[in-house]
Amino acid sequence: MDEQKKNMLSLIQPTNTPHLGNYLGAMRNWVKMQNEYNCFFGIADLHSITVRQDPVKLRAQIKESYALLIAAGLDPEKSVLFVQGHNPTHAELSWVLSCYTQFGELSRMTQFKDKSAKHPDNINAGLFTYPVLMAADILLYQANYVPVGQDQLQHLELARNIVQRFNGIYGDVFTMPEGYITKSTAKVMSLQEPTKKMSKSDENANASVWVLDDRDTIIRKFKRAVTDSETEICAREGKDGIINLMSIYSAATDKSFEEIEREFNGKGYGEFKLAVGEAVADMLAPMQSEFKRISADKSYVEQCMKDGAEKAYKFSRKTLSKVYKKVGFVTF
Ligand code: TRP
Repeated sequence: MDEQKKNMLSLIQPTNTPHLGNYLGAMRNWVKMQNEYNCFFGIADLHSITVRQDPVKLRAQIKESYALLIAAGLDPEKSVLFVQGHNPTHAELSWVLSCYTQFGELSRMTQFKDKSAKHPDNINAGLFTYPVLMAADILLYQANYVPVGQDQLQHLELARNIVQRFNGIYGDVFTMPEGYITKSTAKVMSLQEPTKKMSKSDENANASVWVLDDRDTIIRKFKRAVTDSETEICAREGKDGIINLMSIYSAATDKSFEEIEREFNGKGYGEFKLAVGEAVADMLAPMQSEFKRISADKSYVEQCMKDGAEKAYKFSRKTLSKVYKKVGFVTF
C-alpha cells in the first residue's frame, strides 16, 4: 500500500462468464490502473445471490471470474484481487450502514425497481439493500475512485450520501468516493438489439460475446449481428448496429471512427462484420490462453484468492473498527 497513491475499487458480479462489454468496460481498463492507484478489484459473490443462483454454477463462475481477472493482466502482487465473501467485513459494515440509509432512498433506486419487475416472485430484502452492501464495499477501502458503468452511478451517489451523513455525525471516517469514468470506455450493445446494452442474462445466444468464446463462435456471432438495410459503414443517426460494431472495432484495434470509415469505404457489411469478429478474436486470444494456463494450476488460483482475502481483510478491518468505535460499540 503506497500512501502517496489514491485508492481505487471496483467489483464485478460472477453471474455468468464476463462478456465483451465487461471486458472493454471494466477488466481491460482496470489493468491500466495498477501502477497509478492502490487497486482493490474483486468478485461480488455476495451481491449475486440477490437473484437466485444455482450453487454449482455459481461456485464455478466465481473461480472462473477470478482467474479471468489475472488472465486479463491484473497482477495479484500489485493489486488486491479478492472475493468479497472471503472478507467478513463487507457484511458487517453493510449492517451498520443500513442503519444510516433511509427506506425512501433505497425505494428510489431504479435498479431495484427494474429487478423487482423482472423477478416478481423473489423481491427479497437483499435486492432492496443491495446498494448498501455496495457502499460498504467502497467505503471499507477508503476508495477515492470507483470505476463504474452508467447503470451503477445512482448506487455510487447513494454511497456518497451515506458518507456525508456518517461523517457529518462522527467526523472524517470515510473517504468521499468519486466515479471514475474514462472516455475510452466503449459501451457495448447487444449484437441482436443494438439499442440495448449487452447483457449477461440475454436469452438470445447471438446477442452477447463471452470472453471465453472460441474464435469461430465469435466470428459467427458478429456475422449474424443485426445492422440496417443500408450499405454505408458510418456513424450516422439510426445506424445503431453499425455504430456498435464500429465502436467495438475501434476498441479492439485502436482505430478512430474516421479511419474505420475510410478503411471500409465502398466495402460491404459482410466484409466489415468479418473484420470486427477477427479483431475481437485476436484481442481476446492472449487472455484466453493465459486463462487456460492459470486454470490448469488450481492451487495457484486458490493461493491468490487466499492472499487477496488476507490483504483485503487487513485493510478493511481498520475501517470497520473505526466505525464500531464511533457508533459506540465496545471494542478491544
Ligand atoms: N453492483 C455492481 C454491478 O453489478 C458490482 C459491484 C458490487 C460494485 N460492489 C461494487 C461495483 C463496488 C463498484 C464498486 O456492476
